Amino acid sequence: MKYDIITLFPEIIKSYCSQSITKRGIEKGIISVNTHNPRDFSKDKHKKVDDTPYGGGEGMVLTCQPIFDCYNSIKKIETKEKYEFIMLSPQGEKFNQNIAKTLAKKEQIVFLCGHYEGFDERIRLALKPREISIGDYVLTGGELACLVLIDSISRNIKDYLGKDKSAHNDSFSDGLNGLLEYPQYTKPREYLGFKVPDVLLNGNHKEIEEYRRQESIKRTKTRRPDLLN
Ligand code: ADE
Repeated sequence: MKYDIITLFPEIIKSYCSQSITKRGIEKGIISVNTHNPRDFSKDKHKKVDDTPYGGGEGMVLTCQPIFDCYNSIKKIETKEKYEFIMLSPQGEKFNQNIAKTLAKKEQIVFLCGHYEGFDERIRLALKPREISIGDYVLTGGELACLVLIDSISRNIKDYLGKDKSAHNDSFSDGLNGLLEYPQYTKPREYLGFKVPDVLLNGNHKEIEEYRRQESIKRTKTRRPDLLN
């Protein structure tokens, strides 16, 4: 998977991606993460990328020219079905595990991160991005949302989590029929008087599987009853 990120703050993306599993995914060649800064494309003598809104109002709006030129400079794969262009926006469709799984089948995703009061509307009209929101709240910029998408999409790419691991039993995933994950325990057997449930110690895989399934249902019922429908 090739991720190309249009951002005024590339260091936010680079810093996150230089750690942990994302870093390993890049080293193993399973994903690549490239940033593109619209400021580098600004034709303004002060490298301006924003301006005051027509009609008045607070804040600054990202201008068309640097974003269009930056977008056009990115080399895109030819196969349309394997390509997606996503704008991070609180007005977009709400992100979820199903979207993550579907996007994991692409070969290239270009992300457009906003900042300030938003984008000139002509960026939406002409470039027609798919708009995605990570929730009903407003962030200062799209970078955090972009990283949320990169992380959750990548988990669904083969071998990203390591050869013997998978996202199959994550909350919301197929392995759990879209339910929340069951509780996990590790050593010691007892801590502050809380004991590991006996069933997890008896080595009976069928019983353990059934216990976990029941715990998943119980959790989902109390925390997210909406998922049971
Ligand atoms: N940019 C600002 N807020 C956002 C959100 N909730 N989701 C995606 N991008 C955003």
